[in-house]
Amino acid sequence: MNKTLTSLAIAALALAFASSAFAGGDVARGRAKAEQVCTACHATGGDWNKPLQPEYPKLAGQHADYLVTALNEYKQGDKSMIGRKNPIMAGQAAALTATEIQDLAAFFSGLPGQLYIKHHTQK
Ligand code: HEC
Repeated sequence: MNKTLTSLAIAALALAFASSAFAGGDVARGRAKAEQVCTACHATGGDWNKPLQPEYPKLAGQHADYLVTALNEYKQGDKSMIGRKNPIMAGQAAALTATEIQDLAAFFSGLPGQLYIKHHTQK
């Protein structure tokens, strides 16, 4: 293989890995972690569409990239414009590794969810 082809192949490989970053989470590992920790607030009786309190958001069916971003924002706190400040979730997110965040996002995004967008009907 000549040099140009080799670098093209490397670039294609790098792209393939980059685009699979969100899809790379392990659903089984994510489920185990979720059932161990997150279930205390984000589910009732194992139902991820029934959070314990109305102010605890539903995670089932949420987009994986949204979940990854949200968890990283809680980790970051309000140190920058993109952070999220919440005393409960800050502690939860601080305990998660980057791999665990990917795994959790893969698990929750694959669940059947009830999240939807309300459209205004035209009159
Ligand atoms: C002690 C209760 C509690 C536990 C345990 C908990 N959460 Fe939360 N979670 C909350 C609360 C309360 C909020 C809303 C915080 C806010 O207003 O920003 C929240 C918000 C979130 C959000 C943002 C959702 C959105 O729609 O923006 C994500 C993502 C999330 N939690 C993931 C997790 C994961 C993953 C775990 C397990 C590792 C977990 N949480 C464990 C209480 C909890």
